Amino acid sequence: MKYNIRKAQLRDIEAILDLLEPYSKTGVILERKREDIENNIDSFFIAESENTIAGVVSFYKYSDALIEIRSLAVNENQYKVGIGSGLLNTLVESLLFDYPGAKIFALTYHPLFFKKYNFTVVPKDSLPEKIWKDCKNCINLENCNETALIFNKQKGFNNDEK
Ligand SMILES: CC(C)(COP(=O)(O)OP(=O)(O)OC[C@H]1O[C@@H](n2cnc3c(N)ncnc32)[C@H](O)[C@@H]1OP(=O)(O)O)[C@@H](O)C(=O)NCCC(=O)NCCS
Repeated sequence: MKYNIRKAQLRDIEAILDLLEPYSKTGVILERKREDIENNIDSFFIAESENTIAGVVSFYKYSDALIEIRSLAVNENQYKVGIGSGLLNTLVESLLFDYPGAKIFALTYHPLFFKKYNFTVVPKDSLPEKIWKDCKNCINLENCNETALIFNKQKGFNNDEK
């Protein structure tokens, strides 16, 4: 399947909301409000395939030293053709360029996916800013099974596979 990754624009917001909704409803990813996406549109990349948006990813910058990968989601009809890893690779490369000193992390129910791309599991309480700021809004607050992972810059992004 052919797809193209680019920075998101305001005209993409509706499609981004549609893509994220089923995952935020079940707590797989944090809910993003329209206004939040609009105010942070520069932090989003999207994958386009045949004029539809097949995937999305964004980031949240706590500081130049700590950045979270957020809202990584692919349309379930287009899984496993490289869109998720393509988006992750594009975002990580862009963050490494703009914030070379940053610790890049993710909180996820799919640690094996991130491990494939040289993210390493770390204790959740090693990321205090994140835990206290956003988790209070999560529907899974009381039974969180997410795994925290940090990108391993020494190894770099492993994109040999696709
Ligand atoms: C996780 C997700 C983004 C993967 O997207 P995708 O486009 O299917 O991923 P890719 O096609 O790039 O997969 C790349 C590789 O990872 C593997 N992979 C995909 N999903 C995986 C998962 N959940 N766990 C482990 N490996 C996974 C693929 O099999 C593929 O391996 P291969 O190269 O050996 O064949 C997608 O399943 C998704 O949107 N899930 C729901 C939202 C979510 O959980 N987001 C992440 C939380 S931050």
